[in-house]
Amino acid sequence: MSQRVFSGIQPSGVPTLGNYLGAIRNWVPMQDTHESIFCVVDQHAITMWQDPKELTRQTRDMAAALLACGLDPERCILFVQSHVHAHTRLAWIFNCVARIGWLNRMTQFKDKAGKDRENAGAGLYVYPNLMAADIHAYHATRVPVGEDQKQHLELANDIAEKFNHDYGVEFFPHIDAHIMGVAARVMSLRDGTKKMSKSDPSDQSRINLNDDADTIALKIRRAKTDPEPLPSEMQGLEGRPEARNLVGILAAITDTTPEAVLREYGGQGFGSFKGVLADALVAHLSPIASEAQRLLADPGAVDALLRRGADRARAIAEPIVAKAEELVGF
Ligand code: ADP
Ligand code: NA
Repeated sequence: MSQRVFSGIQPSGVPTLGNYLGAIRNWVPMQDTHESIFCVVDQHAITMWQDPKELTRQTRDMAAALLACGLDPERCILFVQSHVHAHTRLAWIFNCVARIGWLNRMTQFKDKAGKDRENAGAGLYVYPNLMAADIHAYHATRVPVGEDQKQHLELANDIAEKFNHDYGVEFFPHIDAHIMGVAARVMSLRDGTKKMSKSDPSDQSRINLNDDADTIALKIRRAKTDPEPLPSEMQGLEGRPEARNLVGILAAITDTTPEAVLREYGGQGFGSFKGVLADALVAHLSPIASEAQRLLADPGAVDALLRRGADRARAIAEPIVAKAEELVGF
């Protein structure tokens, strides 16, 4: 049997171009080649405070956005994390398997907790253990994510190995990270050294999948750049993270390589290049935004679809987690 795919996304805001290019877009073709399970991870989202009503709405909005991007409930399982309790049951076991030293090495915790680490939520700290449980509850072995999640996947493998060792069985399989190519890391439009994220306080730092054409054009026009024209070769992008980012985005959205983009636009200033980029983004993203809007006109239908997805997810995860609990002695 082909590998089972699992991946998740937090409903902590509107999905961004980074989520789209680094994750969602790559999930779509997997539906035809793998048994695919995609999850809106609301339990991860509350590791940073979320307004409850907003969280409910954003969870549904995220599901609609994923459907609009091409996830098809006939060809994949799409559901909400908190609807399937197997995840948190396994996460508790993993909290006991994972070592504090392993968690201390996680750079995302350091980034998100900021300077006042003593005051960070304990959930934010053990987040990678829940993420490991999300995947291992399905014995999924292929996890398509952006590069920012690589360290968490390595931890998930360490946890699986230690569990298997501690309980003397080969129960949890090894996960293959599947880090996507050109746009594995889309950077902030305001700071080329930070990743584009839906939880960034500045809305100008990202393109949201529901931005209209004018908003996209404005954000791209205001995107930070340097005064030099575009180089015609890749070496010319060294030390120019903002330029590299915009070139990478155009390459990804038009299905080509950064090299090809530079061959075409090398020598041009950012004024004209940004116009090309904005047009390409609008052409690609506006059909997605209108489809999401159409789906959200019937919120009950989206909710019903998610409930069916949870039933199907539960049918896979429940026996696997029950077995893990039995191995532990519960
Ligand atoms: P966010 O940081 O925007 O809240 P999530 O943690 O929900 O994103 O991640 C969802 C998926 O999107 C993950 O696979 C992650 O690797 C990918 N992703 C998030 N931000 C980016 C980015 N800037 N570039 C590429 N992929 C990204
Ligand atoms: Na993240």
